[in-house]
This record gives sequence, structure tokens and C-alpha cells, in this order.
Amino acid sequence: MNEKIEDIAIAMVAEGQGILAADESTGTIKKRFDGIDTESTEESRRDYREFLFRASEAMNNYISGVILYEETLFQAAADGTPLVDLISQAGAVPGIKVDMGAKPMAGTQIETVTEGLDGLRERLGRYYERGARFAKWRAVITISEDTPTWNCVKANCHALARYAALCQEAGIVPIVEPEVLMDGPHSNHTIERCHEVTEWVLKTQFSELYDAGVKLEGMILKPNMVVPGQNSGQKVTAEEIASHTVSCLKDTVPSSVPGIAFLSGGQTELEATANLSAMNAMYDMPWKLTFSYGRALQAAALQAWMGKAENVAAAQRAFAKRAKMNGLAALGNWTNEIEKAA
Ligand code: 13P
Repeated sequence: MNEKIEDIAIAMVAEGQGILAADESTGTIKKRFDGIDTESTEESRRDYREFLFRASEAMNNYISGVILYEETLFQAAADGTPLVDLISQAGAVPGIKVDMGAKPMAGTQIETVTEGLDGLRERLGRYYERGARFAKWRAVITISEDTPTWNCVKANCHALARYAALCQEAGIVPIVEPEVLMDGPHSNHTIERCHEVTEWVLKTQFSELYDAGVKLEGMILKPNMVVPGQNSGQKVTAEEIASHTVSCLKDTVPSSVPGIAFLSGGQTELEATANLSAMNAMYDMPWKLTFSYGRALQAAALQAWMGKAENVAAAQRAFAKRAKMNGLAALGNWTNEIEKAA
């Protein structure tokens, strides 16, 4: 495995590949399993993730990295092989979610600040030893009538920068994820508002990264796409989303950042693929633009699996199809016709 952070970052955004976000916390994976009537136990979580990482068609061709939850990083497959080894054997980089979650901010109604800096240096040492070569920290920014506040933007971007500096010190590539949420009840949450807020957050983020001495060549940015809020009622095309998103990123993300890997954030699988493909098809950009999807890569696989061993092969095929469609989108080569033919 490559050991320089710059080389690891480049491998994470390899041509036509992207990142599988399989780092759902125990609470979140329970919600996903509830949706398919499957009990969430240490074993069922292991079985699920094991078959994803053993889906060689998807993993060998379209997945450059996998984000794990701490439990999974230290889990072994049914035959005793560490799950982290399955990922490396498939040629993908293992990564680890290191934040401790978005916690309510003192004195605010709906805003959160992501915690997890205390003891992080020591945890990173243990994760590195177990094979993790990149990490993820997610901050959450909420759009409403009177948010985000500067207090929230500043605190979250500052924490992300401190996390990123600690990662690089440990030889780990930080994924910096300041997510502007697309959910929320507000009708004034238009694509224009999302653009304005995302621009503000990313400007702040790169200023904080500079102050913390973070080497931009050794990080990956994981932003939201610029989209209308889910309850805004605004209808936009993939081309409009591509135009807003790319212009926002060009205004804020230095070209020394090797790659940008989007979160899906509640978009449907098809939307997440179509929007990414539109960006890569329409624009020349200084960075690789790819996916780091959770829900938009796993929804079909979960539905096909339903918690039953006899469905594993079908679920792996569903995962392979989604991974392939997103791999094409990372090249700007996805079309509706290819989607249907697959
Ligand atoms: P979604 O793609 O489901 O938003 O998850 C990606 C992720 O890792 C969020 O932190």
C-alpha cells in the first residue's frame, strides 16, 4: 500500500471509481435494517458488510475506498479474515469515520456541532495500526429561516480543520465533510439559497484548513451538491444542479485538492448518479469529481438482501449495478439508456 498521504488521496479518487460510505453508526444502520425487517445485531451488521466487501465485481472495478464504522474496522468475516483485509484485497483503501456525531449546540434550537476531538490523536494511532489510511468527519449545517448562524459555521469548520491536521500528522488522509443538509421544512430553501450557504461554508472551511496548516494535496473534500431543499417545491434539472454545484466549487475549492467526492444526502439513487454524470460531462475541472455515497449506493442492495442469506448473490448484483452506474457517472458517461439496459 502507498504510504504518502498525497498518493493515498489520489488512489481514493482513481479514474472511474468512487467511495462506498458504509460507516453508518449503530443507530443509523438499525434504521436501515428496520426498513427491511431485519434485526440489527453485531452478526447481522457483519454479514451485511461482509457480502458488500466480497462483491468483487463492484469492489474491484468501481470502488476506490470504503468508509467503515469503528465496529466494522475491528470485525472479522465469518471465516476469521479481518473485514479490513477484504477491502485491501479488492484494491480499495480502508477508511474510518472518526467523529462522535453532531451534537446540539448550546443556546441554539436546531443547530449542531460535531464532536470527537478529545483523544482523537490516540484513536488515529490505533486505526492506522489496524489498516485505516483515510478518515471521515461529518459536520452538519442546517438551512432554515434563521440558520445557519456564523457561530455554527465557524465552530464546525474549525473542528474539521483541527481533525484534518491530526489525521495528516498520523499519516491518514482526512475526508473533510461539511454537509449543508437538503432536508428541512423550509419553503425558502431554494437552490439559490443552498448555493449561497454552501459557498459561505466552503470559503470558511478552506480558510480554517489554511490556518491549521492542512496540506491540500493530502485531503479529499466531501461536500453536498447544490440542490433545492426537499420541501421547497422547486423543480430543477440535473443540468441546473451541475451548473450551480460546479460554479460554487470553482469559486471555493483550490485546484491543489486532488478530489471531491459527493455525499448523496437523501437524493434518490438515480438523481445522485444523473447529477454527478452531468457535472463530469459538461465541465472541465481541476479536481476529480466522484461519489462517496451511502444511501445512494446501498439502497438497492439492502432491498434485494432483506436480511436473508439466500438473497446475497442478488444483493451483490444490485450493488454491482449501482457501483457501475456511478463509476460511469464519475467519467461523465452515464445515460438513462445504459441504466435501463443494465
Ligand atoms: P449519504 O450518501 O447517504 O448521504 O451518506 C454519505 C455519508 O457518508 C454521510 O456522512
